[in-house]
Amino acid sequence: MSRTVYLNGQFILEEEAKVSIFDRALLFADALYEVTSVIDGKMIDFENHMKRLDRSMEELHYPRKLDHKEIKSFHHELIKRNNLSEGIVYLQVSRGVAERDFAFPSEKTEFTVTAFTQEKKLVENDAVINGIKVMSIEDLRWKRCDVKTVQLLYPSFAKAQALKEGYDDAWLVRNNYVTEGTSNNAWIVRKGTIITRQTDNLILKGITREAVKECAKELNYKLDYKNFSVQEAQAADEAFITSATTFVTPVVKINDKKIGDGKPGKFTQLLRKRYIEKAKENTI
Ligand code: PDD
Repeated sequence: MSRTVYLNGQFILEEEAKVSIFDRALLFADALYEVTSVIDGKMIDFENHMKRLDRSMEELHYPRKLDHKEIKSFHHELIKRNNLSEGIVYLQVSRGVAERDFAFPSEKTEFTVTAFTQEKKLVENDAVINGIKVMSIEDLRWKRCDVKTVQLLYPSFAKAQALKEGYDDAWLVRNNYVTEGTSNNAWIVRKGTIITRQTDNLILKGITREAVKECAKELNYKLDYKNFSVQEAQAADEAFITSATTFVTPVVKINDKKIGDGKPGKFTQLLRKRYIEKAKENTI
């Protein structure tokens, strides 16, 4: 069945949604996005996604911001019209349509705002039950990974490479340290302490990462923010990833090495349970 999508203020069928070939998203990947998860027909952490969108727009000198209330309202409308119970709302904002030119267009150029829903099993799925296998691959992305742009060719390439080699995803490695997954943050657990990389321009500061930090504190886990290498990750007791589409998902193998006993870790499972409980209490 055809979905209803959102395009610049209108709700239309997906076949009818048309964007100009001069859109800067197409020509320069000049667009920002957010992915908000939906469970039981309600959104998780919507406001924090909007704050990050504002920041991304500021960092790339978008001349205006969007109204969060309006965005919330069309997200709710899309969820309703598409009868979405579990999945995501994808939101994209491009700098708009202009003659092809490397220079930014006039500040008066209207943004192109698009959004759509996607069904996805977030709470129960095979990845949660069995854990995922990741392959390490050099991080060749640009150095502004803190900005959530649609310039995703390299992460897509890395994921395709991992799948081709029989893995589920890739962990990206820069200067011998794991930065993050192709579309998620990377974590390890060692002797009761959970470790994830410090945030800077080389990773995206995940909204799920921040929520998981709070859950970890509640569970009295020790937290450490620091770089770790692939070898350290392989020697860890547990490993996992976090994102809006995976929540907390165990990693059971990194390259040719099983993590712990090769099964989803205990800390990881408890953290996932707490994350989902807490997320459900705060959905809108
Ligand atoms: N990706 N790091 C990268 C590179 C990401 O693309 C994402 C999210 C994350 C986790 O961020 P959050 O917890 O806010 O989802 C970290 C989304 C899900 C995507 O591109 O589909």
